[in-house]
Amino acid sequence: MRRKRDRGIQGTTERIDRMKILVTGGAGFIGSNFILYMLNKYRDYDIVNLDKLTYAGNPENLENAMNNKHYTFVKGDIADAGLVRGIMDKGIDAVVNFAAESHVDRSILEPASFIKTNILGTQVLLDIAREKHIARFVQISTDEVYGSLGSTGRFTETTPVQPNSPYSASKASADMVVLAYYRTFGMPVVITRTSNNYGPYQFPEKLLPLAITNIMEEKPVPIYGDGMYVRDWIFVTDNAEAIDMVLHSGKDGEVYNIGAGYESANLSLIKTVLRLMHKPESFITHVKDRPGHDRRYAMDPSKIMNELGWSPRTSIEHGLELTIDWYTANRKWWRRIKSGEYMTYYEKNYSVKGLRTH
Ligand code: NAD
Ligand code: TYD
Repeated sequence: MRRKRDRGIQGTTERIDRMKILVTGGAGFIGSNFILYMLNKYRDYDIVNLDKLTYAGNPENLENAMNNKHYTFVKGDIADAGLVRGIMDKGIDAVVNFAAESHVDRSILEPASFIKTNILGTQVLLDIAREKHIARFVQISTDEVYGSLGSTGRFTETTPVQPNSPYSASKASADMVVLAYYRTFGMPVVITRTSNNYGPYQFPEKLLPLAITNIMEEKPVPIYGDGMYVRDWIFVTDNAEAIDMVLHSGKDGEVYNIGAGYESANLSLIKTVLRLMHKPESFITHVKDRPGHDRRYAMDPSKIMNELGWSPRTSIEHGLELTIDWYTANRKWWRRIKSGEYMTYYEKNYSVKGLRTH
């Protein structure tokens, strides 16, 4: 097995200059932010991005990385063992697995792809990472695996998993498989469980980008049920920094909760967005509730703060301002998504053939 110390893992003081990371699902929201963060921070690291380009994957998110010699894009499925083996054969030091079906509402309509990618895909990655003695496997998970809280308390890493949606059940299952590979095979795995992310490049089906872009289009903002569902919000770059710390310094077999401590009911969050965008509250429209809707998530991030020295940098007001500014400056990006044009835009404009399979 590769010695971890030589691969830049376990403690920043022993970090060496080069590392080759396989990032999966890097054309999505958090994955693309993570790749841009890492390429900027570690100028000599190599990143291979394996992404299937489902509806949620958009290579345009990584336009700024396209000409970077340290970045390679591979279109493909994490459940394709032959493809994954071919990539890992070329000397990967660490895997960061973002690839997933990620939208709760879609998991209610069509759970099969969630089971296939989130559970079986993760198992394929684990098997080949084990075969190739990869020195670090980071599984990107979610606070949703813990289920729903009442009005008090916060999730810690020892809170039992009790997922409620097909999405969170698939993520919780993957977490169990990842931990089983640590206990059974001694694989060097770590899991991050993060609260609701927001920021640039988030697909406008999730609450905040949907609300911001609808408001820009003078359309109503749909609020499920009474709008008193509480989420714990974190700016995506703060999450990228936390994942970087866990990748380098996290302890094998451990779970790290990541959250910035900004709890908000959906209704008051959207009222803040409307205030920042100088628009009236009449944009808010209550619509039918989501079935099995979790009432409240809240993370206790003490472990990563105390053990790895992470803390969030971005306040919710500042993060919302940055996000609104980004969606204002990048209308073409989200308009192409909302119109569906983004599905063919990249191939047409960058002469990349056969990028998407429809
Ligand atoms: P996203 O939906 O924006 O991106 C997912 C990416 O995975 C897309 O690029 C998609 O093309 C790719 N993908 C899907 N199936 C694939 C497959 N079989 N093989 C290869 N690539 C595939 O998701 P996101 O919001 O960026 O979330 C990334 C990860 O973080 C997910 O694992 C999610 O569960 C987790 N997470 C997200 C949040 C959040 O608030 N968005 C919070 C906590 C955890
Ligand atoms: P979402 O962004 O889908 O993230 P998650 O379900 O993973 O937390 O939803 C965030 C919250 O916003 C959740 O309580 C559901 C709610 N919501 C709405 O009220 N309206 C919407 O149109 C969407 C997409 C979500």
